[in-house]
Parts: sequence; structure tokens; C-alpha cells
Amino acid sequence: MDTRTAAEKTKPFLTDVQTLRARARKHMEEGSVTPSYEGDVKKTIEILQSVLATEIVCVLRYTMHAVTATGISSEGVKDEFATHAKEEQEHAMEVAERINQLGGKPDFNPSNLTSKSASEYGTAGTLVDMIKENLIAERIAVEHYRELVRYFGERDPSTRLMMERILTVEEEHANDMHDLLVAHEGRPMLPG
Ligand SMILES: [Fe+2]
Ligand SMILES: [Fe+2]
Repeated sequence: MDTRTAAEKTKPFLTDVQTLRARARKHMEEGSVTPSYEGDVKKTIEILQSVLATEIVCVLRYTMHAVTATGISSEGVKDEFATHAKEEQEHAMEVAERINQLGGKPDFNPSNLTSKSASEYGTAGTLVDMIKENLIAERIAVEHYRELVRYFGERDPSTRLMMERILTVEEEHANDMHDLLVAHEGRPMLPG
């Protein structure tokens, strides 16, 4: 059910950030009470399934934006969206491979995407709103992946290293979107 107020609905790129963050943290909080090795692997797979969903939703959002962005000076921005879509796809593949290595089955089921993802598909219609949606999504990803790097720490160095590599790219994505926003709107967005 959509519980947003009318005021929230007029600002689609700023809605549900708290919900998304809470969802992103859910599995980590549950993880602290499963000390067994088997429990940890199962938990790792669950966490990575939501990272996979997050990355797939990012692929879809950037791809949609790359195709539909219009208006003056949109060409360079479309290219940037397309590049990001490709990099999110690489992340999705890397995470799916890791789930497979751990004995899980990567979940590419479209009907599970929105409930597992820590990012939103988005509703932006204008170029600036698209950039803002992407910036919000990247900031949530950066925040969540930093927590995951800490979570995996020494308990799973291979997964931690993968998340560190992905995190570095998400930080670049957030910077790219921030720079585009300043270029197109003339001012930065406050931290979301
Ligand atoms: Fe990504
Ligand atoms: Fe990204």
C-alpha cells in the first residue's frame, strides 16, 4: 500500500529513503544472532541477494533514463546514464557469481526485485529529476555498501573485497551525478 502523503508524492526522488535504508540494514541486524558458519553463509547469500536486486534495479533505472532523457544538453547525460547502466550490470554479474560460488541460486526473478532492492526504479520525468533520483540511489548504495564492508570484515574477506571494489565505483557514480546536478541546476543537493 502506498502510504506516502500528497506532499511526498510530489517529490518522488526523496520518498522512502528511510524505508530503503531500513530494508538494506535488515539482514545485517539479523546476521548478528547467527554465529554458526552455516548460518553465516546463508546470511551472506541473503545479503547478496538484496545487493543483486539493488544492482538490477539500478541497471533498469539508468537504462530507462539513458533512453528517455530529453531536452537541451541531454546527450552527454544520456551517455553517462548508459555507462552507469553497463557498470551496474557488471556489479550484478559479479554479485550473482559470488552467490553461486557460495552455493546459492542468484535471484533474477523480476517479481522479487522491488521488495529486495535498496534502490528504487524511480518516477522522474525531467532530466534534473532523473539526475537527482540517481544521486539518491547512489548515496543509499554507498552508505549500505560501506556498512556491508564493515559487516563482512574478517568473517568473509572475499565478499568484503568484492563489495569494496563495487563501493569504489558507486562513489564515482555518486560524484558523477553530483557534478551533473551542479552543471544542470547550478547548485548541489543537500545530503539525503
Ligand atoms: Fe552498482
Ligand atoms: Fe552505481
